[in-house]
Amino acid sequence: MAIRFIEDLPIEGKRTFIRVDFNVPLSAGRITDDTRVQAALPTIRHAVARGARVILASHLGRPKGKVVEDLRLEPVGARLAELLELDVIAADDCIGDGVRKLANDLRDGQLLLLENLRFHPQETSCESVFAEKLASLADVYVNDAFGTAHRAHASTFGMVSHVAEKGVGYLMRKELKFLGDTLAKPLRPFVAILGGAKVSDKMGVISSLLTKADAVLVGGAMAYTFLQARGQQVGSSLVETDKLRKAGEILKMAEERGVPLVLPQDHVVAPDFDSQTGSVCGLDIAPGKMGLDIGPQTLADFKERLTSARTVFWNGPMGVFEKEAFAQGTLGVARALAESNAISIVGGGDSAAAINLSGVADKISHISTGGGASLEFVEGKKLPGIAALED
Ligand code: 3PG
Repeated sequence: MAIRFIEDLPIEGKRTFIRVDFNVPLSAGRITDDTRVQAALPTIRHAVARGARVILASHLGRPKGKVVEDLRLEPVGARLAELLELDVIAADDCIGDGVRKLANDLRDGQLLLLENLRFHPQETSCESVFAEKLASLADVYVNDAFGTAHRAHASTFGMVSHVAEKGVGYLMRKELKFLGDTLAKPLRPFVAILGGAKVSDKMGVISSLLTKADAVLVGGAMAYTFLQARGQQVGSSLVETDKLRKAGEILKMAEERGVPLVLPQDHVVAPDFDSQTGSVCGLDIAPGKMGLDIGPQTLADFKERLTSARTVFWNGPMGVFEKEAFAQGTLGVARALAESNAISIVGGGDSAAAINLSGVADKISHISTGGGASLEFVEGKKLPGIAALED
């Protein structure tokens, strides 16, 4: 179904509400990674250049419906003003008479940043009066918050039907192009590589990828649930015992479909999570040891498969890459992606952080700003934030 693009929306001189995802990591009041602010710039610059009266809205963290001083958007507003070299008017709330006046007084090309939407519990509960109040600020609604598109909240879903004109910005369009169009008709071979701690988060996406990909490579702690389901010894590695049956079903599904679901054949192990060094072992892990990274043979095998692929989707680290001793698998995958000629698409979160840590971000076709959103989208779920925009 058709979704309009900001370039085709009548935003000149109009109060243009842009839902962005400025949910950035903060430490002691400072932004430690401004990727999401940078990613929203093309849409904001476009709106300013066309003389829109820009109202930016975002959540930050999970304040659970209360004002949390550390989760005010002030540092984000400051960073945005610096990047745009423009003044950003900061509102102290996202609804109310004061905010309405600020929005109505905006001049063409001016920017207003609303305060954290989640300071109101009605944002996440998608309460209709709150949604209408947000909508009353705007003549045009633009969603550029892909990272939050899997949430049916007031600002991503509830308010949309109350605004006459609606569409997506540049970031959302790019996310839909790579995670949607490219993965729907991938150049083959299409190899997916998945990692991360919890297999329960990825069951859906693995099942879905087994219907689209030519191979699915699995690393990270979630591999141990699959290995145990296959009858391997995994020592004291993290295993989600309540997911063993489902893992077995997925292994069977892969076999039936003839799609290789490739698990680690060796590991970097240590006595526990606090260990600073590890040793390499083969397929089975001895009691008292836990797997904390894929081993060198597995990495070599994964690299070979990635190098010959023409489309790659990666989500989730191969091990505890925050520690040097257990980072080789994850950083090796990041480098393999950078060196390959494939269209490389990286889901957000930890795998994006690993790409940045490896300094190869400019060699990746697309790094998604969405964590949960990109997984749900690739799994084939309809995201409320996108569905709401369909004409
Ligand atoms: C994210 O960081 O994944 C998005 O901003 C959504 O945040 P949430 O998981 O708190 O809804």
